[in-house]
Amino acid sequence: MKGIILAGGSGTRLYPITMALSKQLMPIYDKPMVYYPLTTLINAGIREILIISTPQDLPSFEKLLGSGESIGCSFTYKIQDKPRGLADAFIVGADFIGGDDVVMILGDNIFYGSDFDKKVREATINLDGGIIFGQQVADPERYGIVEFDSDHKVVSIEEKPEKPKSNYAIPGLYFFDNQVIEIAKAVKPSARGEIEITEIQNAYLKAGKLRVNLLDRGTAWLDTGTFASMNQAAQFVQVIEERQNIKIGCIEEAAYRQGFINATQLQALAEKFIKSGYGHYLKSLVS
Ligand code: DAU
Repeated sequence: MKGIILAGGSGTRLYPITMALSKQLMPIYDKPMVYYPLTTLINAGIREILIISTPQDLPSFEKLLGSGESIGCSFTYKIQDKPRGLADAFIVGADFIGGDDVVMILGDNIFYGSDFDKKVREATINLDGGIIFGQQVADPERYGIVEFDSDHKVVSIEEKPEKPKSNYAIPGLYFFDNQVIEIAKAVKPSARGEIEITEIQNAYLKAGKLRVNLLDRGTAWLDTGTFASMNQAAQFVQVIEERQNIKIGCIEEAAYRQGFINATQLQALAEKFIKSGYGHYLKSLVS
């Protein structure tokens, strides 16, 4: 299975802070935002990852993440010249996906929880169709929403409905089989001019091939869509990290725990960051 991080978009909802710098490169406490979704993919055992961003921002992602070799991964970079919609990731990424299944994560979605990591790993095994997730939120009109009938069967998926039929939002993490490329190519732009990811989910739903996995209340799915929620996400990370002396979204640690790199390689990476607490943390993992 291959992985895609979609990290483009115009970022206008966060102007002026995103005028000169990509939203997904903004710090969330002690790391750039993109480290968190990247860690989610690495925790799922994904090593081949495509990063999609705008023509202006893609060079900064390359500067930050490089080839991926140092953490036992292979990163590819591709430009999305216009924000055509989330489904466009599968068109821009078609050559990269080739004949494989794919998981796409939004570069601004942050998840945390051990049950979550387990669910994500399970989703990579014997995928037949699509797997998406659902979590209860307080503000459902801001998200893709999944509606269930009384037998917990999914009956509809709607993008940012004015009158949401449930409180279950769909986070930006999507597992699809190879059919997704052809399905994405057939999606027509919505009223807001985007090819919507919810159209892809509906196509799988119609074919009886969509599974919705509900995230339990122990899983944190953090929002970074507003100034306040970005700040809250940073505070969440800081509180857990300082209290438990662990790191959330540490790509080197995830690669080490997955066996992508060994202790000697982790030690070498730690030296690079030794002047910040980040390097000390990596070192402590080896000892
Ligand atoms: O966060 C989960 C939600 O993400 C889902 O519940 C919705 O179904 C889904 O449409 C999406 O909603 P958003 O309102 O968050 O989408 P937004 O337009 O903000 O785009 C999400 C991220 O993807 C954002 O960081 C920018 C990036 N993006 C967006 C578009 C439209 C791209 O890289 N390219 C694009 O063409």
